[in-house]
Amino acid sequence: MTVHVSFSGDFKSLVTPEATAKITSIKQAMDARTSAGADFLGWKNWPSEMDASLVTRIQETAQAIQKQADVLVVIGIGGSYLGAKAVLEALHQPFLTNEGVEIIFAGHMVSGAYLKNLMTYLDSKEVAVNVISKSGKTTEPAIAFRFLQDYMETRYGAEAAERIYVTTDAEKGALLDVAKDKGYARFVVPDDIGGRYSVFTSVGLLPVAAAGYSIEQLLAGAKRAEQELGSVDAEKNSAIQYALIRDHLYHAGYPVEISAVFEERLKYVQEWWKQLFGESEGKEGKGIFPASVVYSTDLHSLGQYVQDGKRMLFETFLKVESVEDDITMQHAENDSDELNYLAGKTLHEVNDAVQQATAEAHLSGGVPLVTLSIPDFSEETLGYLLYFYMISCAYSAYLLEINPFDQPGVEEYKVNMFRLLNKPGY
Ligand code: PA5
Repeated sequence: MTVHVSFSGDFKSLVTPEATAKITSIKQAMDARTSAGADFLGWKNWPSEMDASLVTRIQETAQAIQKQADVLVVIGIGGSYLGAKAVLEALHQPFLTNEGVEIIFAGHMVSGAYLKNLMTYLDSKEVAVNVISKSGKTTEPAIAFRFLQDYMETRYGAEAAERIYVTTDAEKGALLDVAKDKGYARFVVPDDIGGRYSVFTSVGLLPVAAAGYSIEQLLAGAKRAEQELGSVDAEKNSAIQYALIRDHLYHAGYPVEISAVFEERLKYVQEWWKQLFGESEGKEGKGIFPASVVYSTDLHSLGQYVQDGKRMLFETFLKVESVEDDITMQHAENDSDELNYLAGKTLHEVNDAVQQATAEAHLSGGVPLVTLSIPDFSEETLGYLLYFYMISCAYSAYLLEINPFDQPGVEEYKVNMFRLLNKPGY
């Protein structure tokens, strides 16, 4: 298994006959499509069932984008934003330029300065736009698209239509109508896949391919995860291990999970994970609150709270076993910074010591620790990891007797916002 799980507590004691029976019945209900929200289980077999011709079309479109543009502006929010952002940030080596186009996200928040400055930045670049919205009517990306569409039409005239790519529902939504009307190239968000489970569809794949990364490898990892994480044997299935540990800790008085990474590149994997678990589980007064920290940065900030604050937290380290690039500490003649004791060690080794030291400290402070280890930063590993999280999240929510695939709580702010902005009908 590409994701290895370890736990500071006694994992074996969690695999009771009752837990095994629950997991088995959840799996049977998912397979039979009778579980809560089963209409949105399309992501589960997507990696193995996805049409190869769609992969080819995405790759060809990505190549066309690379030919016509320096920058692809990807407009979307929530699940229509975070999957691609997570993959791109994790794959991108800091300060190096990748082979494909530069990806810039928009529509994930409302800021006039951001959009205004973005359009000024775009003036000196060749531009393409990928607007993504399953519902085709989400306000924040719709606002960004109104500006960017106007920008593209003013700048490129009729050619704008060849530079705008729309990813939305096959049958409905305002965005679909615009795409049809203007003749934009279209990609479909499958009906039975919700936003936060859509990273392996065109939603995530087109921006990742346009940036020059291998979506074939990403999908290969997801497919392997689908196969390996399909059994109900808790000893052999790390996704079930993670779900059982979370469920145990939640009921043992730990309602907050902090994802901790020691590589900043994983920050948006954490953001994607927070959306996945937070929006899937946080309902009906239940659910673990997902939070995140990047260490060492946050060891000099939130680390104080984790060590000594109110005891309600457990930590989940996401650990990368090997890095593709590294440097070694050198010996200094005068040792004025007193660091010669580190001479000969790579920074990955130093970072390993930071991880072990943090684990020991937080454990002694009463913070239970889960560790998810992945081998590297490759596309394949990332594909595996994201599928691992999705299947584990479904089990976690079902263990809490929650429908993992709806998000009724998100509507409340929208209604208030429409009223405040005098939207007709509100
Ligand atoms: O997971 C979800 O379903 C949500 O977070 C959506 O992705 C988000 O609200 C954006 O929706 P849409 O793609 O319809 O614009």
